[in-house]
Amino acid sequence: MKIVIGNDHAAVEMKQEIMQYLLGKGIEVLNVGTDSRESYDYPRAGFQVARAVAAKEADCGIAICGTGIGISLAANKVQGIRAFACSEPYSAEMAKRHNDANVLCFGARVVGIELAKKIVDAYLDAKFEGGRHQRRVDLIMDIERNGGLSPES
Ligand code: RB5
Repeated sequence: MKIVIGNDHAAVEMKQEIMQYLLGKGIEVLNVGTDSRESYDYPRAGFQVARAVAAKEADCGIAICGTGIGISLAANKVQGIRAFACSEPYSAEMAKRHNDANVLCFGARVVGIELAKKIVDAYLDAKFEGGRHQRRVDLIMDIERNGGLSPES
């Protein structure tokens, strides 16, 4: 498995620790965003993570900013991306099981490193359930493709 991970200036240490955590699990990591504490605009990092996932350069993405919110908003602007901001493991698990989410986002100013690892594990260990959830994900992607839902959707 290969994961792209990216961040802004608020999440440099958090990204480094999560990267080490993933490498320790034998997961390949693509590092984007910034490794400096200099101000770095989170939409750039969100876009880099999302672009790598959409281009299938990685199986999924992890994007971290101060809150997880701005970077998830930016990532969701890329076609094919279902990013979510999350601060506990249950939602991370369900985002994979029901929403087939492909970019996990969280806030380095919101969660501590041990909780962040639990969130990452919950997301990575879960499997998309398909079935009625596939239909709903397809509807989301219809909205993205067509700018809305047709009456027959
Ligand atoms: C940067 O100060 C902060 O705005 C950013 O990390 C993020 O929280 C935005 O949503």
